Amino acid sequence: MELFITGTGTGVGKTFVTALLAHHFHEKGMKTGVQKWVSTGNPGFADDLAFIAKNVPGLEQNKGINSNLQSIYCLEFPASPHLAAEKQKVVISSEKIIHGFKEMKEHFQILMVEGAGGLMVPLTRETLLIDIVEELKLPTLIVAAAGLGTINHTLLSIEALRQRKIPCAGVVLNSQEYPPAVANEMEHPDIVRDNARVIEDISGVPILGVLDRVKTFDKAIDSGNSIFSNLLHSPVL
Ligand SMILES: Nc1ncnc2c1ncn2[C@@H]1O[C@H](COP(=O)(O)OP(=O)(O)OP(=O)(O)O)[C@@H](O)[C@H]1O
Ligand SMILES: [Mg+2]
Repeated sequence: MELFITGTGTGVGKTFVTALLAHHFHEKGMKTGVQKWVSTGNPGFADDLAFIAKNVPGLEQNKGINSNLQSIYCLEFPASPHLAAEKQKVVISSEKIIHGFKEMKEHFQILMVEGAGGLMVPLTRETLLIDIVEELKLPTLIVAAAGLGTINHTLLSIEALRQRKIPCAGVVLNSQEYPPAVANEMEHPDIVRDNARVIEDISGVPILGVLDRVKTFDKAIDSGNSIFSNLLHSPVL
C-alpha cells in the first residue's frame, strides 16, 4: 500500500499525522516506510524523518536501503524546494524521485511519502510536486487545519487532486498551534464540527477524523489509531 500525505499548506501537521500513521501501521506488524522527497531548511537528514524516528520506536533511519525512513533531497535554504535547490545549484530530478520511490516500495508493505508544503509546490520552475503524485497515481491523504479558514483550502486541494484523477483517501483535520484565546475563536467546537460536515458533504471525500492539540505525541496515539482504523479498507487504497 502506498499513500501520499499532503497538507493544505506548510506547518499544518503533515509530519505529526504521518508519524501517527506510521505508529499505527508499525504497531499492526506491517513493514512500514516513510519517504521524504524534498525537505528544505535541512542540510543533513530531514527533520521530519527525525521527528518520526524519535516518536515511533522501531522505525530506523540511516540504515541504507532497508531504512524505514528515507529522504531523497535535503536542502539547506528554508524555502520552496525550487528556490532552495537553485541556491545550492541543484536541479531536483523527477526521475530520481520516481526511481527512489519505486525502489523503496519494493522493501515495504506500506510506503508513505510526506509532501513538502502543499500540492502545488514547485520542485523546479517547470515541475510541481503534484505532477509526480499524478504520475505515480499515489492515493493521497490531506492534512488540513481544523478551524476557521479550512473549508476553502481543503476544497481547493481536493479539486486539484480531482482534476488530475488522483484518488483522495480522506482528510484529517488537525488542531493548530494557536494561543489559547485565538484557538477558542478559530477552533470553536461549532466551527470544527461544521467544517467536517461541509467538506464531506460538498466534496464527497471522507473526513477521517479531527485531532486535538496535545502536549506530547504519545497523547495523540489513541486518537490516531481510531482515526486510521478503517483506512486500509478505503476503496481508493
Ligand atoms: N495535533 C497536534 N498536537 C500537538 N502538536 C502538533 C499537532 N500537530 C502538529 N503539531 C506540531 O506542530 C508543528 C507543525 O506540525 P508539522 O511539523 O507536523 O507540520 P508539517 O505540515 O509537517 O510542516 P512542514 O510543511 O514544515 O513539513 C510541529 O512542531 C508538530 O509537532
Ligand atoms: Mg513536515
